[in-house]
Amino acid sequence: MATQQQQEDISVSVVVCIGAGYVGACTFAVIASHCPEYKVIVCDIDEKRIAGWNRAHDGTVPLFEPGLVETIQRAKNENDNLFFTHDVKGAIKESSIIFIAVNTPTKTFGRGAGSAFDMSSWEAVSRTIAAEADSNKIIVEKSTVPVRTAEKVLQILNSAKKNKSVEFQIISNPEFLAEGSAMRDLESPDRVLVGGDQDTPAGRAAVQEICDIYAHWVPQQKIITTNMWTSELAKLASNAFLAQRISSINAISAICEECGGNVEDISRVLGMDDRIGNKYLKASAGFGGSCLKKDVMALVYISESYQLHQVADFFRGIVAINEFQKKRFATRIVESMYGNARGKKIAVLGFSFKKDTGDIRESCAIEIIQVLLNENADIFVFDPKVSKEEILGVFPTVTVVDDVTEAYTGADALVIITEWDIFKTYDYAAIFEVMRKPAFIFDGRNILDNAKLTQLGFSVHSIGMRTWDEPKILL
Ligand code: NAD
Ligand code: UGA
Repeated sequence: MATQQQQEDISVSVVVCIGAGYVGACTFAVIASHCPEYKVIVCDIDEKRIAGWNRAHDGTVPLFEPGLVETIQRAKNENDNLFFTHDVKGAIKESSIIFIAVNTPTKTFGRGAGSAFDMSSWEAVSRTIAAEADSNKIIVEKSTVPVRTAEKVLQILNSAKKNKSVEFQIISNPEFLAEGSAMRDLESPDRVLVGGDQDTPAGRAAVQEICDIYAHWVPQQKIITTNMWTSELAKLASNAFLAQRISSINAISAICEECGGNVEDISRVLGMDDRIGNKYLKASAGFGGSCLKKDVMALVYISESYQLHQVADFFRGIVAINEFQKKRFATRIVESMYGNARGKKIAVLGFSFKKDTGDIRESCAIEIIQVLLNENADIFVFDPKVSKEEILGVFPTVTVVDDVTEAYTGADALVIITEWDIFKTYDYAAIFEVMRKPAFIFDGRNILDNAKLTQLGFSVHSIGMRTWDEPKILL
């Protein structure tokens, strides 16, 4: 029979993730594939989602992410160490390290509505852990959370724990993956951040245990350790910097459309300056996704709660420019078509918030289509990955097509919302032939060749480039 020490050694290798969404599934598939000696359990209260993950051997999973199915299959087939279950309590009991990757959306009610995080799932999970834990645990914040979440969680765990001898260590290990490139981001991350209590031996040991997981495949120099509050804040700061860059270039795009500058050339000029760098300088109809706006607004709320009103205004401005950009693009579509979209057939290409994902959370498609529907336009949507049901769930009156030709045949305008690579490969000469004239293209991603399209006869409108016969937009 195993001694207590041996039992502890065995339990150290059971890593649990609560929350089987994008972050939970992708991150722990990669961890399982690199760490054959760990048993990795990903659990969730959503039984349907768990059943979906358990069908990965058929090649079908609940969320589309390039390379994810293959990684799950690899972990399962080669290491036999990755398990998906809705038995959250059982997983907690079995674990010694618990990552929490549940959703932390923006609050829609009460104090902080529209900016603060809704931490109700987090609190629920903390209480479940407190009730079920019967051995010491390292609890890891994987979700993006407000600063100083760790002290609140520790308070809940310690005061609500059933077994009073159980001890908890809290670690912050925020996730930086981006959807569409998640597997690449996880396989070779720019950095891994582990924050924790650096003042006690137990705290330092817990930090080391989490670093050891990543050290299986991430070079040591890319694993950064900090104190808890630095780590929690660094995640929010990172997303705020990314959002800030997009809003900065989009603000410049608005000036370009007035003065005749070309935003693509400006991005190139800026990007060649090493101090500025060339990433996140792509002007667009607005950033989307479940996190950039949410995390910037969380910083607004945090700043306000520390009475840092000017700081809050700075971050609020990033989101305000994004809202302005979406509205500007939608208005430009209507104004360019003689201020009248009523009854006009508009083909919307792309519904996801970026290419290579089926995720529609905060996609700029939603606001742009809403403006067009308000003008009584006849909307046809095509997206290579977003399901008909999901689009109709948002807009029951649009037509969703499986074949893009049905969208553009007889259309007055083609609106590019998502930068899917396939949209660049279409035969636009043939498309022009079957559209009603004048045929408009509104390229919300600047992925098409303006000069070529203009030559074909299209009236082309891109972000941050003004066609001089364009009417002035009245917002
Ligand atoms: P998600 O909505 O895809 O998944 C969250 C999962 O948590 C859901 O499946 C939900 O059923 C589950 N859940 C909720 N309450 C639960 C409970 N009490 N017990 C068990 N499971 C529960 O969310 P996501 O996109 O994976 O994001 C999770 C967190 O990670 C968020 O804080 C987000 O800000 C952060 N994050 C997301 C990304 C991303 O690209 N999506 C990247 C980095 C960080
Ligand atoms: C973003 C961050 O990039 C991740 O590091 C972070 O982990 C994640 O948020 C999170 O916390 O959830 P994600 O939202 O998946 O990842 O996607 P991004 O690639 O950052 O794109 C966000 C939006 O900005 C998309 O709509 C994209 O099209 C848009 N974008 C991006 C631009 O308009 N221009 C750019 O130059 C870059």
